[in-house]
Amino acid sequence: MWRATVLTIFPDMFPGPLGLSLAGRALASGLWSLDAVDIRNFATDRHRSVDDTPAGGGPGMVMKADVLARAIDAAAADHRPRLLMSPRGLPLTQARVVALSREDGAVFVCGRFEGVDERVIAARGLEEVSIGDYVLSGGEIAAMAVIDACVRLLPGVMGDQASGADESFADGLLEYPQYTRPQTFEGVPVPETLVSGDHAKVAAWRRAEAEKLTRERRPDLWAAYQARRDRRKKAPPDG
Ligand code: ADE
Repeated sequence: MWRATVLTIFPDMFPGPLGLSLAGRALASGLWSLDAVDIRNFATDRHRSVDDTPAGGGPGMVMKADVLARAIDAAAADHRPRLLMSPRGLPLTQARVVALSREDGAVFVCGRFEGVDERVIAARGLEEVSIGDYVLSGGEIAAMAVIDACVRLLPGVMGDQASGADESFADGLLEYPQYTRPQTFEGVPVPETLVSGDHAKVAAWRRAEAEKLTRERRPDLWAAYQARRDRRKKAPPDG
């Protein structure tokens, strides 16, 4: 079973949205497990402090290395990857999500305050992961995003496995536009090709639309896609 352990000072935030919908049903049926551990339980002083003022001065508070290390040692002393949710981390990609979903699970350390004492990051082998170039008030929502992305890839979680292979990023392109009934909405019809019944034409239309969207919205993904395509052309598998 894929096991998520979340270290947080707000364990009540979990399972939160992960208890509903696809992830929630999978959780209830035992396809994955979730353990939210309160870091504060590993504080030793009277006030149960988990943070202190930054060395060198400055604003905010820093999460203490000793308290966090004790929490990790008690709740996550195994070989699962340990992620520290942080805007400073490597940006999460679908490739990393796929790799994480093939592990036995993962440990998610949720930072708060100005950050985490650098020494515990090295001492406990924490991999810093960002979910985007913006700043959340803590790592909890970021951890939920990573867990959701992993859980939907676990065997048996998605009913229609094909919808996983076809979607955005699976082949480095954004997803093509979708339509359903009614045939005409506020005077706008469903594109003719999609109601033609010609499967080859539908596939070609979708590929062209996906390429157009990617070119317009994500020049970074488009450049990587073109580079892969060029490499395939230059070095075909049989030549
Ligand atoms: N914590 C605060 N902001 C974050 C971000 N963008 N990604 C991951 N963790 C965070």
